[in-house]
Parts: sequence; structure tokens; C-alpha cells
Amino acid sequence: MSDSKIYEPSAEFSSRAHVRSMEERTELYERARANPEHFWAELAQRELSWFRPFAKTLEWEPPFAKWFVGGKINACYNCVDRHLDGPRRNKPALIWEGEPGDQRIITYLELHRLVSRFATVLKRLGFETGERAIIYMPMIPELPIAMLACARLGITHSVVFGGFSSEALKARTQDLNATLVITADGGWRRGKEVRLKTAVDEALEECPDVRAVVVYKRTGSDVPMKAGRDVWWDEQDEQLKDAPQLEQQAEHCESQDLDSEHPLFVLYTSGTTGRPKGILHTTAGYLLQTLMTMKWVFDLREDDVYWCTADIGWVTGHSYIVYGPLAAGATSVMYEGAPDFPAFDRFWQIVEKYRVSIFYTSPTAIRALVRQGERWPEAHDLSSLRLLGSVGEPINPAAWEWYHRVIGKKQCPIVDTWWQTETGAIMISAMPGAVPLKPGSATLPLPGIVLDIVDSKGEVLGANREGYLVIRHPWPSMVRNVWGDPKRFEEQYWRRVPGSYFTGDAARRDTDGYYWVLGRVDDVMNVSGHRLSTMEVESALVHHPAVAEAAVVGKPHEITGQAVCAFVTLKQGDWNVESLGQELRQWVGREIGAFAKPEEIRFADALPKTRSGKIMRRLLREIVTSNSVTGDVTTLEDLSVVTKLASQHDEE
Ligand code: WTA
Repeated sequence: MSDSKIYEPSAEFSSRAHVRSMEERTELYERARANPEHFWAELAQRELSWFRPFAKTLEWEPPFAKWFVGGKINACYNCVDRHLDGPRRNKPALIWEGEPGDQRIITYLELHRLVSRFATVLKRLGFETGERAIIYMPMIPELPIAMLACARLGITHSVVFGGFSSEALKARTQDLNATLVITADGGWRRGKEVRLKTAVDEALEECPDVRAVVVYKRTGSDVPMKAGRDVWWDEQDEQLKDAPQLEQQAEHCESQDLDSEHPLFVLYTSGTTGRPKGILHTTAGYLLQTLMTMKWVFDLREDDVYWCTADIGWVTGHSYIVYGPLAAGATSVMYEGAPDFPAFDRFWQIVEKYRVSIFYTSPTAIRALVRQGERWPEAHDLSSLRLLGSVGEPINPAAWEWYHRVIGKKQCPIVDTWWQTETGAIMISAMPGAVPLKPGSATLPLPGIVLDIVDSKGEVLGANREGYLVIRHPWPSMVRNVWGDPKRFEEQYWRRVPGSYFTGDAARRDTDGYYWVLGRVDDVMNVSGHRLSTMEVESALVHHPAVAEAAVVGKPHEITGQAVCAFVTLKQGDWNVESLGQELRQWVGREIGAFAKPEEIRFADALPKTRSGKIMRRLLREIVTSNSVTGDVTTLEDLSVVTKLASQHDEE
């Protein structure tokens, strides 16, 4: 159904793009496929700044890969120092907007000074290459500054999203044997203070390895400081001023020469079991691929103002707020607060204020804003935008069309980017000057990425067949290991289809070679032998004028195997819920086929979401499996309570 509509890149966009035509894209892709090592080696030499060149491009002992072996490099140097010699020296690196409306603009030169000073502070506190730091901070500039200072010294960082509980923080600190914690007194979220230091104190009761906690003052609230362990960021910085010689050194703190494979960071992500996995990324390969995708996908130009709305606590923020944009010398906007605070036009107000040209957000944010109506974006001048992006889940065509029409004024291509914490960088996306778009499809794999769709036996499936998405050849920014658990790494990703990386996602490839990612494997339902994606039904539902958001799960069914159960939130309006249930069933029947008609439709005030904004389908599956409300289509569910409970255990 949604395959039909195609959006060609405009001649104007293509003429100035990094990759200008389908022919260029194909040439690039085929060149990479013919000799991936040569392809990546050339880019690594050209795009990264090395202290010592690498001797070997790839050492691949499945499932363990080493890229750019023998090279010496530093991620912080590549993101900061190397921009100081030319015209980027005084270019804004970070444009930061605080939730209360405060603002800071930090040039590359200033970023270098701030990072060097903080790295000196860490060194004076006795931390060195090879140790591990937990960073638990709000979305303020000191968060990327802390990450970069760690990278400068070779301290492996693990950022824990500020919304996680002290329990989650404790589990991560212990799993990593971290010796350092960098935090703040608190941060602002919807006008309220999130008290971070209190959570740190609770978490550290059982983490004896932590020698120091560095606390940045953001909110100014009272926090207890533990003698011998806790220090204030600003006081440590002040101390550098005591000795002029020291201060001189501090401003030029040397970056360490590190191996290409030096562990840059660990990021925890939920897996199929309860315990989160520590996804390990290393230095050179990760940096190269985040940098290349800034050019290929976001078509970055020197004068762009780029804004990714993610939180740095997730991989999108690591790769596309910090390392990718800074390695590319971009001007990157960073915002502390929520999209709906103080009002639903906060995003658009920021776009207008800083003349943002590239805007990257999630389908869930878009759908939430669709629900509020067009008057919010219409109140702002969005004419600076030239490219839009989407990440995190499949974007349903209805939300895509709205994003394209209302935000992009039909002038901006939309790059729907498919990737994962484990892949480090974007794997599937349009190159916007070259690839025609189909709403709902992430389109084509990027150069160097070889994909297949296979069945449960690992046999390759042909066009339009749904199956497991696998990645065939190692790529530079791939996950290197699960921290402390190589067995889990092997079992989770490499056993299902030996020698290939198992993404855990279902997808199909259409006859044009476009990929349609359907969601996690366990989100694919089987109804009467028909393979049916929850996404397809959801997409049909949100096409209906009354529906704001929909989440669909499979419910065990005696006869058909599974039955479709839909949770639906409605747009504002006076709807007759009694008759709407029936109407929506018919609607889905018409859009997809009778077999896809939901057996149950439940109306809810809000859908339960993880703190990163993903709909918790697993929880919904539990709800439909354990409580057998049959045939009742008119219940108005209050899911806010379960959401709260479940978001706590779901992400721990
Ligand atoms: C899903 C976020 C469809 C997918 C970068 C993947 C997507 C999981 C898309 C990874 C997209 C992400 N289209 N699905 N454009 N982007 N996903 O690790 O199921 O938080 O496996 O990384 O999100 O989520 P993660």
C-alpha cells in the first residue's frame, strides 16, 4: 500500500549534495562491496587524523573484529584539536539551549580549552588511561566536555541516561568496575529539578571501587558532599589558577596516543533478558563511520546548523550529537529539556531561533506533535530547514507525510535512518541528494554495509519476503563485545546465522531493493499463517483521522495462532468510542486485508513508553496475554500507572 508513493530528490538539493545521483551512489556502494577493506582504509587515511598510521585494515576472527590495527589515534583530538588550525577555530561547535531558556555558544577554540582543563582536573585527581568513568549528567555542555576529556586521556566512559534510577546506576557502575563518577547536583526537566547527586549517593553505597565523584553545579541545590570522595567541578577548575605554570599546562593538556581499538565507551542497552548488556565501542572505526554518515546521510556542509534532539544518554546522542558532528567540524545544537515544555512549540522555537538547517528526531516525537495540531509549527519561521531525519523505530507513512508537509514544507528530504546501539552508526538510509524516498522505508544500505534477509534456517529470502535482517560483512563501527561477557556477545549476535550479525529485526526488501524494517522479531505476528507486522497494522490505524497513536501486539489465539490486539490513543475531538472500534476494524480490513483486522481495540489515554520514548510492546503483550478482556472494545485504559512501574524494570 505505501510502496506506491515516491519522492525524488529535488534538482536543487542534488546539485549541491555530497552524493548527487543514484549512479554516484551505486558506484560508491559497488566499490565498497568489491573491496571493503580498501574502501575503508582509504577513507580512514583521508578523513581521520592519525598519530601513527595503521598497518592492517581488518583482523577478523569471527565474531571478533579489529579495525585499523597498529594505528595510534585519539577521538578527542579528532573532534576538537584538529579543527583549530583553520577557519573552524572560531566556529560554534555547540549551541546549547537550557530548559529555562539560558544559552551558551561554545566555539571549537573554547571547547578545546574547556576539555583540556577538565582533562587536567581528572589527571590531578589521579585518573589515567584504562580506567572507567560513569557519567550521569543532564543535557548540559559539561556532558560532552566530560566525555571528550575522558576520551582525551583514554578513560573509557559510560554515560548513564539521567532518567535512570539509582539501582540502574549501581548495576552499571559495578558491571564496569568504574573508579570515577562524573555528575551534577541536578538538571531541569519540565520545570522540575531531577536530583542526580542523590541517586549517585544511593548507588555508590555498594560501589567501593569508586575513588572520586566530580559534581558540576547546575541547579544550585543543596547536596551532601562525602569527604575524601566528592569534589566540585568548579572548585577543581579554580585550583588550576593557583599556579600560573599549571594553568598554562592545563590549557594544553596533551591527548594520549591510543590504539585504534582502545575502548572509547560502553553503553548499556536492554536485551532479551532482564540484565542490560554493556555494548563496547572502540576508537578509530567508530569515529570513522559516525563521521562518514554525517556526510553521506546528513549531507553536512560547512555552514549547516545541525540539531539532533536525542538525549546523549542513548546511542543516538553519542554518535550524532557528540562524536559524529564534532569529528566533522559541525555546529551542533543541544537542548536540555522536553519537547513540550513550556509549550508544544519548543522544538520549532529553537529551530527558528538558531536557524537550524538539519533536524533529526524520532517518530514518537513527531506523532506526539501531530496530535497537538499544526498551529504550533505554523507560528514559527522554519524556512532555515533543508533536511529532516528520523530514527528509533519505523516511521509510519502518516507521520512521515505530516513531517514532510508541515515541518519541511515539502522542500526537505527526510532521511529515515535505521541502525542500533550495536551498529554504532547509521546502516540503512537514503543519501538525500541521490535516493528517491518512499515514506516508511529506510531505503538502501550505506556503502560498506552488506545486508540480507534470511529465514529461521539462515536461507536467503527473495524480494518482498519477510525475514530476519542480518549484516554480512564486518563494518568499522560495529560492537566489539559485550563488556565482560564475550559468550553472551557470541550467542546474542552471531549464533543464529553463523558468521553474520543478527540484528533482531524483521524486514523485507522490495523489488527496488528498498528495505522496510518491520520492527523487532518478536513484534512480528503470525495470524492464520500470515506474517503480519505490528507496524503495518499501526500504520493503517494512524491513517484514520481519529487516531493519534497506535500500538499493536499479537495475542495468543486458539484458532489463528495469534490475533491482533490494538491499543489506540485518539486525537482531540468528540469521538463516539462505541462505534469507532467497529469502524477502525473495518478500516484496517480495507487497508491491509481481512486477516489483519484487530480482534480487540482498546482505547487508552496514553501508550506506555520507555524513558527513551519507545512504545513498550512487551508490556502490552503481557497485558493482553494475562488479562482476558474479550470483545470489550470500549474500555478506556489508564496505562500511566503500569507505565511508571514498567519503565523502571524495563530499562534496568
Ligand atoms: C529500531 C537506536 C525502523 C530497530 C538508533 C532497532 C528502527 C532498534 C529505526 C535499535 C528505523 C531504529 N526504522 N526501526 N529508522 N531505527 N529502529 O539500539 O528495531 O536504541 O533494532 O538504537 O530500534 O534501537 P537502539
